[in-house]
Amino acid sequence: MAFTIDLTGKVAVVTGAASGIGAGIAAALRQAGAIVEGCDITPGAGITVTDITDDAATTAFIQQAGARHGKIDILVSCAGANVFKGAADCTPAEWEGNLQLNLTAHWNLALQCKTFLEAAGSSVIIIISSNHAFATIPGCFPYNIAKTALTGLVRSLAIEWSPAIRTIGLAPGFIDTPGNQQWFNSFPDPEAERNRTIAMHPVKQLGTPAEIGAWCVFMSSEHAAFASGTTYLIDGGRSALLQEEG
Ligand SMILES: NC(=O)c1ccc[n+]([C@@H]2O[C@H](COP(=O)([O-])OP(=O)(O)OC[C@H]3O[C@@H](n4cnc5c(N)ncnc54)[C@H](O)[C@@H]3O)[C@@H](O)[C@H]2O)c1
Repeated sequence: MAFTIDLTGKVAVVTGAASGIGAGIAAALRQAGAIVEGCDITPGAGITVTDITDDAATTAFIQQAGARHGKIDILVSCAGANVFKGAADCTPAEWEGNLQLNLTAHWNLALQCKTFLEAAGSSVIIIISSNHAFATIPGCFPYNIAKTALTGLVRSLAIEWSPAIRTIGLAPGFIDTPGNQQWFNSFPDPEAERNRTIAMHPVKQLGTPAEIGAWCVFMSSEHAAFASGTTYLIDGGRSALLQEEG
């Protein structure tokens, strides 16, 4: 018999579902049979417009989604944004805004969902972190601080809310999103910059939102029942490379 993952009857909440990785996750979960409640600050088909840094708006979104289905089986806390500054020129407002979106909002969202996740019986929280939680480059502060702290959030929720709720982190490396294409486009020769980036990865490709979606499908299934408390780095082998060759 073929190995299949069927999430029919599961209810998933995905934040940041309008674009990039979140859109890929929502599509993959739907493909596996789950009902997806997506939110974003950017409007889109099947998206509830919600700013996850706004407590009242987040509460309203989760209460409505939870009440509609009576439970939440899968929470994928994905919405986030780069705040890339130098440690010396980051303003207090940028520091606060980054922590609010890339750290506090993940905790608040998990809190808002807790009762509905418990109602599901066996549920999972997936927090989308970043390879910047493991290593970083100059000028990517304070984004890397928030993403590193998410590793601790994953651990705490996993040990305090188990066994009803598993919590895991997924830390993508370079994913081929519209945002990263915009970054390539900022170079005089975007195609050359794309190829240079690909060459830096041992697997000689970039990751895709669909692949991160597939990780979420697996992590949401009964096959991943032993996975909790860990943040998994998915970076095409990039972090295994000590320094560029030649
Ligand atoms: N693209 C990558 O290479 C990469 C690598 C590592 C980690 N990540 C992480 O993946 C997640 C998704 O990033 P992406 O690259 O797909 O970016 P993206 O900009 O394409 O998608 C992020 C989505 O989150 C939404 N969003 C932003 N602030 C929000 C808010 N306050 N409330 C609700 N929605 C909000 C945006 O409107 C957008 O639709 C982020 O947490 C990011 O840090 C991305």
